[in-house]
Amino acid sequence: MSGQRTLVLVKPDGVQRGLVGEVVGRLEATGLKIVGMRLVKISRELAGKHYAEHAQKPFYRGLVDFITSGPVVALCIEGPNAIQIVRKVMGPTNPVDAPPGTIRGDFAIDLGRNIIHGSANQADADREVGLFFTPADLIEYGRVTDPWIVETR
Ligand code: RTP
Ligand code: MG
Repeated sequence: MSGQRTLVLVKPDGVQRGLVGEVVGRLEATGLKIVGMRLVKISRELAGKHYAEHAQKPFYRGLVDFITSGPVVALCIEGPNAIQIVRKVMGPTNPVDAPPGTIRGDFAIDLGRNIIHGSANQADADREVGLFFTPADLIEYGRVTDPWIVETR
């Protein structure tokens, strides 16, 4: 593995609106590497594990209803500072605050329909990647472009 691994979800709104290619394309364009990718219909049980930190929040019920409402695309994204780079490309949680050029700034207008999830920190990333992928689902591979993306010293 080179660098960090983080979990990304194209949420049900992104899938329904035909934005999977756009979102995946923006992540790929950074140079980060896709090491896992699958279409998943999230169960309420899995949603509960994924959003455990929000279980006591007033928006929790709506959040679980939404994330289980249709398929999502789950990605495991790898590279140096992958967690922070993905969060930057996503933009702030509330699309009202998300600048143009970010995924949420360009494609969303509502906090509850903000297109994409990305792990917030290393501990969350490790836990969340494990919820959506087995070790065998994650593929190690080199790209001929790798030396054009990351300087090897
Ligand atoms: P995410 O987990 O989806 O990547 O988003 P995030 O870290 O930027 O935001 P987080 O605080 O973890 O919240 C998870 C998702 O819950 C919805 N939310 N609704 N109604 C509300 O006050 C509220 N707050 C958060 C958002 O869809 C957010 O992405
Ligand atoms: Mg979060």
